[in-house]
Amino acid sequence: MKIAMVASEAAPYAKSGGLGDVMLGLPSELARIPDNQVCLFLPFYKRIKENPAYETELFAEFRVGLSWREQYAGLHRLKTKGRKKLPTVYFIDNEYYFGRDGLYGYLDDGERYAFFSKAVLDAMAVLQFYPDVIQSNDWQTAMVPVYLNAQYRGVFPYTKTVFTIHNIEYQGWANPDFFDNVLGLPESYRGIMDMTGGVNMMKGAIECADIVSTVSETYAQEIRYPYYAHGLDGILSGYWYKLVGITNGVDVSAFDPATDKALVQNYSIDDFKSGKAANKAAIQRELGLPERPEVPMLAMITRLAGHKGIDLLCYTARRLLALDVQLVVLGTGEQRFENFFRGLAAEYPNKVSAQLKFDVNLANRIYAGADVYLMPSKSEPCGLSQMNAMRYGTVPVVNATGGLKDTVPPVDAASQTGLGYTFQSYNGDDFWGAIDRCLGLYWHDPDGWDRLIRRDMSTDFSWKHPGEAYRALFHRLTG
Ligand code: GLC
Repeated sequence: MKIAMVASEAAPYAKSGGLGDVMLGLPSELARIPDNQVCLFLPFYKRIKENPAYETELFAEFRVGLSWREQYAGLHRLKTKGRKKLPTVYFIDNEYYFGRDGLYGYLDDGERYAFFSKAVLDAMAVLQFYPDVIQSNDWQTAMVPVYLNAQYRGVFPYTKTVFTIHNIEYQGWANPDFFDNVLGLPESYRGIMDMTGGVNMMKGAIECADIVSTVSETYAQEIRYPYYAHGLDGILSGYWYKLVGITNGVDVSAFDPATDKALVQNYSIDDFKSGKAANKAAIQRELGLPERPEVPMLAMITRLAGHKGIDLLCYTARRLLALDVQLVVLGTGEQRFENFFRGLAAEYPNKVSAQLKFDVNLANRIYAGADVYLMPSKSEPCGLSQMNAMRYGTVPVVNATGGLKDTVPPVDAASQTGLGYTFQSYNGDDFWGAIDRCLGLYWHDPDGWDRLIRRDMSTDFSWKHPGEAYRALFHRLTG
């Protein structure tokens, strides 16, 4: 099967968040399946162009029409070494749109990604690559299924489209004149692109794609409701028959305590007790907390943004810190939360460490040293860090929403099943209840705790199962 995947970011080339991780893991997994031919298309951002690690060759040059403009596009192919079955990576070059320091956050982002989405279709035509399926991701590549239906059916008569939502909050809104001034679509698409008088690119993709997928089963249900859908609930519940949820995997080679170079001692399920103890002592020393093996260490590694449920931790923090515990927070974000944790660390210097920065190696050392991982997100399409935490033998306490619900089945003491502690409604006291039950097991049933860690560490969070689910979906779609 020929598969084209289109995204605005992918690790290791350019990554700002979870989407970047997924666009490394999923294409690689699909490329491993025999008979699959996978191409990944990305913008040729300045940081990729100037990175000497990536050698590319110019494959073709053409012009992309966007309403009254014609813009240059260069098609570059990444040179790969070795014979491993990998996706072929193509970059779309345009200095004006992508020769900038950042990835996103420019006033003309709408135009930049409309250009990119259209250029990718032109590129496939130039390459004479006629995919069975084109999978595109989030608002930045939402125009792919729209342009395909509107203007490229002659070139790709049989190609099916899958549009995947990783974050429904950002929909690619634009002023109404964007339709005529930039998109340059036929008049019949005005209504398809329109939402409440503006242009909404994600809405266009939902209308035009054959399948709309999202990154967990539960989230695929949730986004039919206003609480989660940021205005798209009506359109998504109308198209319920297109909606599919497939829970993400994680990169199990990058997140492996047995090989992680950031750790003071590597460990696996066979020696996690000594391994985690060594890493706990080291991280306590590193963060200036008392070196005490018996005290439970709770950690949160996150952007300090409202929807990550930080307010619930603020609400429960003092109740938690009345106990003999340690709390570690790593991340940056909203000022009010940074200030809160800075203040908390000053108030409880022997219990709290606030690391208000972004540091991937420190993150891994915290996953390894901590006992409990807190993730009370208000909504979470999938979430990746709870899976990383479990791989490192750190027990998650999560709000049972979206992918957190699908990846963290609740612990049941009687049947000795489940992977973590969950709560059902977004509420500080329920969050506290889950923490309290978790610490109860830690303190009162050390053997049960070890069995729980074993279950967490032995669960398969790799891309294998999601890869199979996507393959089955693509086969169903193409007959
Ligand atoms: C977004 C979502 C996150 C998900 C990631 C990858 O960042 O917020 O929940 O894990 O995309 O799909």
